[in-house]
Amino acid sequence: MPKYAHIIGWGKYVPPNVLTNDDLAKTVDTTDKWIREMTGIHQRHIASSKESTAALAVYAARDAIESADVNPQDIDMIIVATASPEYPFPATACLVQNAIGAGRAGAFDLEAGCSGFVYALSMAAGLIRGEMYNTILIVGAETLSRLVDWNDRATCVLFGDGAGAVVLRGSETPGGVMSSVLGADGSGGELLIVPGGGSKSPSGPETVLSKMHFIKMNGREVYRFATRVMATAAKQAVERAGWALDKIDLFIPHQANKRIIDSAAKSLNLPPEKVFVNLENYGNTSAASIPIALCEAISGGRIKPGDHLVMVGFGAGLTWASCAIEWTAPKPGAIPLPRAATSRLRYAWSGFKSFGWQVSRHVDALVSRVIDTVERKEQ
Ligand code: ACO
Repeated sequence: MPKYAHIIGWGKYVPPNVLTNDDLAKTVDTTDKWIREMTGIHQRHIASSKESTAALAVYAARDAIESADVNPQDIDMIIVATASPEYPFPATACLVQNAIGAGRAGAFDLEAGCSGFVYALSMAAGLIRGEMYNTILIVGAETLSRLVDWNDRATCVLFGDGAGAVVLRGSETPGGVMSSVLGADGSGGELLIVPGGGSKSPSGPETVLSKMHFIKMNGREVYRFATRVMATAAKQAVERAGWALDKIDLFIPHQANKRIIDSAAKSLNLPPEKVFVNLENYGNTSAASIPIALCEAISGGRIKPGDHLVMVGFGAGLTWASCAIEWTAPKPGAIPLPRAATSRLRYAWSGFKSFGWQVSRHVDALVSRVIDTVERKEQ
């Protein structure tokens, strides 16, 4: 029997701190009117200094795990899609694995810019269909505010922070992720880039002075690329799923710019009620934008079992990714209180265990060193 990869849980987290267009107009030469008209964005959420990418990812992951009603110990693999990881290494996914107590899970990060979440969804669905793994947690999490030059009006108005997550599980019931399309055009890599801090230009006083650790973007070219690729990628995913375009019930695009979304919707012949847009509240949250939009579409009653969804992302790389999903999850119910309490207990216990392992690793290293010293003296 073929295996299908179904989304069985979802969750999101956005930092509470809101930065409006008017707030931005106090620090850079811009206006609320320009930002609304050119992008559709009204405000964005910005992580506090205590909220890192892993912290946002963990909140969203816990939400998704609870709504899926799975035990973290049953998760086989964790993929975190991010362009703003906690560190160059270890992977943010490993930090999430530790924080949620998913002791059996492998974990890695996936970097495909704003297409990262759909790339991860496609990878996870492939692993499930190939019967390598059965339960996979995917998180899209970003703190792009840390990579933005807050004096560059061309980029600082666009981005926001947040995280969204889903749990995928294999089943023989038809449905779930029915097709995906992944693409890249590395010749456009320099159009959207953080040039400093990597192997080519390691961080140092010079890279900082020349602001190479900030996002540099050729907005006009990225715009042209996005309008070209979004509708095409959506059509390809629909075709691979064996559907017709008019079968789409909800289009969930990457939330970068309302004009880009409108142009794609027009090419796909989709009326506004079949297109999900929430970028006015969040700005472009990169790899987190599609899972955050999915969560809001579900909580807003825009998705019901049997619906045909299409997601499309595009971004740095340049990359693009689309997928067609037949929605099979029942409407979410409130998590019963006793279960919410046991989840909290489970996370507290896994935090305690993780701390215990760290202490035992230190003690082990200390004892080994003492034994080595004694042995060397005896020789
Ligand atoms: N406020 C006021 N004026 C501004 C601002 C601003 N925030 N930003 C730029 N301008 C000015 C420019 O200086 C320019 O002025 P000039 O004509 O006097 O020189 C004018 O507005 C037009 O600037 P353009 O950059 O040419 O404007 P454009 O029409 O391209 O719109 C925008 C800019 C909204 C950024 C658009 O290019 C866009 O959305 N591009 C796509 C960006 C995107 O989606 N990036 C994310 C990709 S996903 C990822 O992986 C992170």
